[in-house]
Amino acid sequence: MRKYLAISLIVLMVFSVFLLSCQHKIQVKKVRIGILGKSVHPYWDVVRLGMEEAARKLDVDATFFVPPTEDVPKQIETLETWISMGFNGISFAPSDPDAVIPVIKKATNKGIFCISQDTDAPKSGRLCYIGTGNYAAGKIAGKKMAEILNGKGKVAICTGSLTAMNSLERMQGFKDAVAEYPEIKIVDPILVDNEDTAKAVDLAETALLNNPDLAGFFGVYAFNGPSAAKAVKSAGKQGKVHIVAFDTTDEHLFMIKDGLIDAAIGQRQYFMGYLSVVVLRDMIQAGKDATMMLMPKTQTNDTIIDTGVDIVTKDNLADYVKMMDQWGVKHEFKP
Ligand code: BGC
Repeated sequence: MRKYLAISLIVLMVFSVFLLSCQHKIQVKKVRIGILGKSVHPYWDVVRLGMEEAARKLDVDATFFVPPTEDVPKQIETLETWISMGFNGISFAPSDPDAVIPVIKKATNKGIFCISQDTDAPKSGRLCYIGTGNYAAGKIAGKKMAEILNGKGKVAICTGSLTAMNSLERMQGFKDAVAEYPEIKIVDPILVDNEDTAKAVDLAETALLNNPDLAGFFGVYAFNGPSAAKAVKSAGKQGKVHIVAFDTTDEHLFMIKDGLIDAAIGQRQYFMGYLSVVVLRDMIQAGKDATMMLMPKTQTNDTIIDTGVDIVTKDNLADYVKMMDQWGVKHEFKP
């Protein structure tokens, strides 16, 4: 009898442990993360697409937000909201890397894992950066411009920001590359539009009026190339003023096909969104150290995932679009 009692007790204990573990699984909350971008633009739709795809596959609760145009206070306010909502991880693209330091430190102190994507903020204490190596990519753009201009001519630089690191690094890389060509001159001032497309077109039109001999535009952000192209077209200067620009939205691809944009430096922002989810989810579930251990380190022991770029011209447009299809990046453009 005693033997039976002991066996039934053991069976009961095992069963209740099993029940408890089921209950535990049911109660486990989904990992909650937020991805913060810089401005409403088709460029950021692709980041969001990557985020949604990874969140679906990994069962993560992911939120995406971009302010209408570059807006540092709005970015900080959003980060504050996510902290108070108890998010577990944040991937942010700061329009001003210094301005976000206090809020990122606050999030980190509360145990929220913070990483940067698209544009970096190394002094914020973020755990890693996922995105383009912007200095090197700016150099590629500069070399391409020099090749297109046969090493001579006046070039205007258009950008959306004078604070975001990606803009500053791209411009520096570009200037360093063209500095090897003494007959290429960068026009003053740099055209800054705070990611406002209408302003970007206006500034490009004024630059064309002030510099009748302008030979090229370097578009630093996604909307800069197409904005400069619109100004060039309405001034009837297509083919006379060349454009090298970052990014490959449908608008860029149509303009490359039409010969309005000479070359685009295509970022792989789908992976910035996708990998942000993968890395944050891993940090939250497997632990920060276990995740960091597997990630690539720079010579200064920083953790950076360089997502790479593609140089797109009329010649490789069809192959590039095929590659976008393989990645699952949605686009309307069909070569
Ligand atoms: C940049 C982003 C920017 C976007 C839209 C991209 O080239 O990487 O930081 O917000 O253009 O302008």
